[in-house]
Amino acid sequence: MRNLIVAVLAVPLALATTVPPELFSPLVARKVLATANTLPSPIQYPQYTDTTTGNWLLFNSDAWSSGFFPSTLYEMHRRQKLCGHKHGVGGVDWLQLGRTWSTGEIPSKRTIGTSHDVGFPFIEELKINPRNETARTAVKIFATALAKRFNAKVGCTRNEDSPGPNFQVIIDYMVDLEVLFVAEEITGNHTLRDIAIKHADTTIANHIRPDGRRHNLIAKGISVDFILRNGPPKDSLMTGTESQSSPDDMIVLIPVLYSTWSRGQAWGIYGYANMHLRTNFPRYLKTARRLATYFVSNIPSDGIVPWDFNAPTIPAPRPADSSAATIAVNALLLLSQRELTVGNSTGARFWRKSALFILRDITNLAWRPEWESLLSNGTMNFPANNTLTGIVYGDYYFIRAGNELKELGLTSC
Ligand SMILES: *[C@@H]1O[C@H](CO)[C@@H](O)[C@H](O)[C@H]1NC(C)=O
Ligand SMILES: *[C@@H]1O[C@H](CO)[C@@H](O)[C@H](O)[C@H]1NC(C)=O
Ligand SMILES: *[C@@H]1O[C@H](CO)[C@@H](O)[C@H](O)[C@H]1NC(C)=O
Ligand SMILES: *[C@@H]1O[C@H](CO)[C@@H](O)[C@H](O)[C@H]1NC(C)=O
Ligand SMILES: *[C@@H]1O[C@H](CO)[C@@H](O)[C@H](O)[C@H]1NC(C)=O
Repeated sequence: MRNLIVAVLAVPLALATTVPPELFSPLVARKVLATANTLPSPIQYPQYTDTTTGNWLLFNSDAWSSGFFPSTLYEMHRRQKLCGHKHGVGGVDWLQLGRTWSTGEIPSKRTIGTSHDVGFPFIEELKINPRNETARTAVKIFATALAKRFNAKVGCTRNEDSPGPNFQVIIDYMVDLEVLFVAEEITGNHTLRDIAIKHADTTIANHIRPDGRRHNLIAKGISVDFILRNGPPKDSLMTGTESQSSPDDMIVLIPVLYSTWSRGQAWGIYGYANMHLRTNFPRYLKTARRLATYFVSNIPSDGIVPWDFNAPTIPAPRPADSSAATIAVNALLLLSQRELTVGNSTGARFWRKSALFILRDITNLAWRPEWESLLSNGTMNFPANNTLTGIVYGDYYFIRAGNELKELGLTSC
């Protein structure tokens, strides 16, 4: 699939802005390797850093983000193939490190059912060795577990992390649907694909809504609760009180909080661009464009992606979220590729240019040589005051952005 995309992209597109040199700094390999060489026993995974030292804090394998560090190692392996021995990338068996760090993610009582993003490194393994039985089995098990959380009446998979009375669905799940498509490829079971499509369509209907004040539509990167039983909604910052008519005995609780969480917005762009990659359905391209248009046109003039586009700017400072920025960079690069598949080179150029601006600004703000993470200025969880940290997926998408740009011929290593 990847080769096909590269072939389509042979169309030359002018570089709007330069690629930050930090993307391929020797510090990238050095820092990732230093973390990889301190494999804890039992295995634990970096998630975010201490705010003052910049040192990684470690979490058990059931933490939702635990797949990202092993995936980072697979991304370094990809970089090794793209860049050879440049910048400290050579001389390291990144693939073996990725495989070793994945072992804590192998399906177990701990990793199934409690979280939803743990399948990622196995998807990476299958790109390298499609016959790896451990990875094939892992993907099948995670896909089956995800499919079990699908409710046909709601039309979505639910959040297993908060199994309260409400059926909570967050926009982030758009990124998890990939495991269903990969499992469909392995098993030939098309139900998995149907579930992904249904979830994506229900999310378009409920998580993304019109707002006449800005563009036609603005996306709400927050959770929507579907209530299947009578009873009061769960008290939560992210849920609102406005209900709208819905089938039978189901209430759809749409958040009224005027909030546009930037990371949710970025997951949404990525998720819908990927749905278009998987299906070629025009509605997914349109949705990705809508979400991306909001993201790009709401970045303030200082170029800093805030943790929430609607968070008050007074009192200052409004925390940034570097992870939202790097996820968005990858999402926009993917969207740019999707535009090319429909012959829209103007659109492709626009998204690519936007991605490069975001990348430049976030690197200027957040590149932190003295920290263990590559980037600072992540907002893990604003309501819990967990801000100003490095974040494992912020770094992952930073490295991956470099690899994508190199693969597209838009930068050298
Ligand atoms: C298969 O993949 C798993 C998970 O990534 C890895 O731990 C294992 O080393 C791989 N096996 C082989 C033979 O490459
Ligand atoms: C296909 O996947 C769905 C969802 O996991 C499952 O319910 C169904 O039994 C599977 N079908 C077959 C033929 O295995
Ligand atoms: C090309 O892409 C841009 C940006 O997504 C979009 O606004 C425009 O409508 C697209 N044009 C066509 C012909 O699809
Ligand atoms: C970015 O992070 C650094 C290090 O934590 C901090 O000193 C700086 O104030 C942050 N900048 C913004 C705009 O949040
Ligand atoms: C976060 O910080 C604010 C201001 O210092 C404080 O009022 C609030 O209780 C803190 N919240 C948590 C969850 O610690």
